[in-house]
Amino acid sequence: MRFKDRVAVVTGAGSGIGAATARRLASEGAAVVCADWNEEGAAKVAAEIEAAGGRAAAVKCDVSRKADCDAAVKKAVDAFGGLHVLVNNAGITRDGFAKKLGEDKWDQVLAVNLKGTFLMCQSAMLVMMERNYGRIVNTASVAVLGNPGQANYAASKAGVIGLTRTLALELSRNQVTVNCVAPGATDTAMFNGVPDDIKAKIVGSIPLKRMAKPEEVAALHAFLASDDAAYITGQVVFCDGGSSVGA
Ligand SMILES: NC(=O)c1ccc[n+]([C@@H]2O[C@H](COP(=O)([O-])OP(=O)(O)OC[C@H]3O[C@@H](n4cnc5c(N)ncnc54)[C@H](O)[C@@H]3O)[C@@H](O)[C@H]2O)c1
Repeated sequence: MRFKDRVAVVTGAGSGIGAATARRLASEGAAVVCADWNEEGAAKVAAEIEAAGGRAAAVKCDVSRKADCDAAVKKAVDAFGGLHVLVNNAGITRDGFAKKLGEDKWDQVLAVNLKGTFLMCQSAMLVMMERNYGRIVNTASVAVLGNPGQANYAASKAGVIGLTRTLALELSRNQVTVNCVAPGATDTAMFNGVPDDIKAKIVGSIPLKRMAKPEEVAALHAFLASDDAAYITGQVVFCDGGSSVGA
């Protein structure tokens, strides 16, 4: 029970990797606030956790809005008495080759993936620094190595890495660690939205020759959120079946 008496907020907990992470943290004792702009998805995952004997609450939260981020943190404090773990997992893609990529797609992806991660960190750090304890886990992507059609997404995720390293330094004196997971192709709605022929090509190029299961990324989120990783901060860990090796 690595998360006994711990309270966590997981963003994008309404589906995919975020739902798997919320379930994993709860299964190890955490009280989990499932935050998602898809209120129904978040409520469903929270209800599943409770039905399995865990503690959870759901909150509608668009991470690109400061007030929503503050409300998600407040929910954790009000409902469960604190905040120890933040997993910034919410993310979107709006793909297109750079020469035609609309400004709207650039802005949407940067607003959710990068600004949203920053805003959630900013809301959570106030509680964590005050109590001299915290584990923040952000989510980048193997796309930071470069991926045609994803200039906006790759830039946003590369930004998340710079943010992670900087916050790791700023928050270190308060014993708040900040790390980042970089998943490769993972079997969720996001990756399943990729056209079949491109998907097959991507999976064929992965050294382990398969997608990750959301639970495999959740396991890494949970490790970095736990005290097993107490002396790790400012790091990026790829969970990508070997895709980044030699890339
Ligand atoms: N699936 C992959 O292949 C893959 C690969 C690398 C990185 N990732 C990253 O992993 C994370 C999870 O992705 P996933 O594959 O589970 O995708 P998903 O689409 O299944 O889940 C994303 C969740 O985030 C929520 N969300 C989106 N925008 C939001 C916002 N503004 N505020 C709050 N919630 C919001 C969605 O409602 C959804 O529940 C993302 O950050 C994604 O970029 C995924």
